[in-house]
Amino acid sequence: MSLPISKYVWFDGKFTTLDKAKVPITTHAIHYGTSVFEGIRAYWNENNLFIFRLDEHVKRFRKSGQFYNISLNFSDQAISNAIIGICEKNKIKKSCYIRPFYFVGDYGINLHVTEKAPTNVAIFTFPFGDLFSKNGITAGVGSWRKFSDMSNPPQAKMGGNYLNSIIATQEAKRSGYDEAILLDHNGNVSEAPGENIFIVREEQLITPPLSSSALNGITRDAIIKIAKNLNIDVTETEISRSELVISDEIFLTGTAAEITPIISMNGKKIGDGKPGHITKKMMKEYTDIVMNKNQNYSDWLTAVY
Ligand SMILES: Cc1ncc(COP(=O)(O)O)c(C=O)c1O
Repeated sequence: MSLPISKYVWFDGKFTTLDKAKVPITTHAIHYGTSVFEGIRAYWNENNLFIFRLDEHVKRFRKSGQFYNISLNFSDQAISNAIIGICEKNKIKKSCYIRPFYFVGDYGINLHVTEKAPTNVAIFTFPFGDLFSKNGITAGVGSWRKFSDMSNPPQAKMGGNYLNSIIATQEAKRSGYDEAILLDHNGNVSEAPGENIFIVREEQLITPPLSSSALNGITRDAIIKIAKNLNIDVTETEISRSELVISDEIFLTGTAAEITPIISMNGKKIGDGKPGHITKKMMKEYTDIVMNKNQNYSDWLTAVY
């Protein structure tokens, strides 16, 4: 699948065209997965383009590399400016996805990656709508476990980590599901390959803690804050696999997936097989917030123009 990437990209401090942003085949990240990335969305509301929670994404971007001593040789301000700049330079007036990433460059076959290893940084963007159907998707618990802190840091958004997501997705698709759910090393629910998970039980939201190897998702955090402001109880606690199928509602959260209802789990209908009322409420709030229709959350938005 080739993406409709916008003409201008940002590469090592400069705007250039996509065809000129090239790296050699000896790039370390291609061999060992030593890349760090973020996924960010910007929303066009007919007046302006709003980048959602830019500061939080830039903070996590730097932190991910620190787990592996991979240097991001640009300040947070420079990265933020480049992200805003890529939208401006391409004159984007459509909702889009922005992908900043950095990676170990020409470093031979050396596994001793230090802060001194050369890195490259790039940012590109493309127009983006819904990742999944907002009417709900099917999901199933697969046999592959989410990796834990016993093997890799789950909080590092690193290229190599996503092989776990890829193999879980392949299995889910083979089983006929739209999306996989991974259990953690103890057999509790962790998350989906690229999304956090929430269940609803008796009008309360429950989501696995970070100790279940769930990524500290920025959308997860937004949902926790939004729910609290709506006086909906939120608990971060372990969820067993059997609790999933008897949930009143289930939804996924993520930059790409936004709020996606799960209407069937392991082949069993969730609720009445349609997005539940709390899920719908969270979807509505989230859409209003990203479109700058709810001034209580306007500090989560960075206007491009
Ligand atoms: C493994 C994983 N979990 C959860 C998420 C959701 O995180 P966020 O809401 O910050 O996009 C993502 C996406 O970044 C992810 O890759």
